[in-house]
Amino acid sequence: MPVHIKKAWAIPESEVTVEAQFHSRRKWLQTMGYGAALAMVSPSSLLAATAGFPSKLNQAYPVTGREITAEKLVTSYNNFYEFSFDKKSVARQTENFRTDPWTLEIGGLVHKPLKIDVNQLVRKLGIEQRVYRMRCVEAWSMVVPWDGFPLHQLLSLVQPTSKAKYVRFVSFDSPAMAPGQRSSPQYPWPYTEGLRLDEAMNELTMIATGIFGKPLPKQNGAPLRLVVPWKYGFKSIKSITRIELTDQMPDTLWNQLAPGEYGFYANVNPEVDHARWSQKRERPIGGGWFSKIDTAKFNGYGPQVAHLYQAMDLKRWF
Ligand code: MTE
Repeated sequence: MPVHIKKAWAIPESEVTVEAQFHSRRKWLQTMGYGAALAMVSPSSLLAATAGFPSKLNQAYPVTGREITAEKLVTSYNNFYEFSFDKKSVARQTENFRTDPWTLEIGGLVHKPLKIDVNQLVRKLGIEQRVYRMRCVEAWSMVVPWDGFPLHQLLSLVQPTSKAKYVRFVSFDSPAMAPGQRSSPQYPWPYTEGLRLDEAMNELTMIATGIFGKPLPKQNGAPLRLVVPWKYGFKSIKSITRIELTDQMPDTLWNQLAPGEYGFYANVNPEVDHARWSQKRERPIGGGWFSKIDTAKFNGYGPQVAHLYQAMDLKRWF
């Protein structure tokens, strides 16, 4: 495994600094006046994927026993390696990332390939809000209200052929806008991910265009990203430009870099340790360094997804 990767996953986390950053930003906003501060935000960042809001909460997916993570933490503690390997710097480093206009292309083994502007797509499909648990492979977790639509709605627009077995997702490749792509040219950019077609069609799998009832901030994957709540967070690829239906299990960025550590399936499973740490427990972000809770198999979504893996040995198929 490249030395650089080790560094990426091993970056020490400090919520104290996250909090401090938030407070200093708020102070700055108060000094400036919110209006003046807003005027400094480029118009493109305000326009990206604004269609569809406000969304309505879909109550079919309640999260019990957990609080929704504070918005300030969800938007300031990010993994987005195209921009930075330091979670707390990602938001700042996305400054020059242009996400409007944004075109999504869907092709491969489909009857009706599609190339469409994101806002137009949202106007076609509409959006709803769902609150999901999110568990990172690094053993921290959040609870996030996502706005978006189920991926199966998008797939039914393009009509996969009978040969399609997998879905491949491709993020952007623009080193000029992404400092992390410039500083780590040895990574196999663009970031890619994949799902089996039946996983992609599952009712839980979402394409998100927002969080907390607002368009996705750039650091969270504007203007649209995948959300697969029963898998480790790295499967939920951000800022998607292309979706391809294939008959072969696709390569993914992490799988190419460290196959022994980041498998294709990557279902949340407390019984299978990561090569370098235990997955039995997790640290809810915002709960303090020492507050840990037990991790649930499939991140608690077994009733909706366990049937997808009945014939598989999940210890072998990480
Ligand atoms: N998507 C892209 N394009 N690039 C990334 O580096 N990081 C992944 C995933 N999607 C990543 C990505 C990882 S490791 C996690 S845990 C989640 O995004 C983090 O999402 P968040 O920052 O919105 O919490």
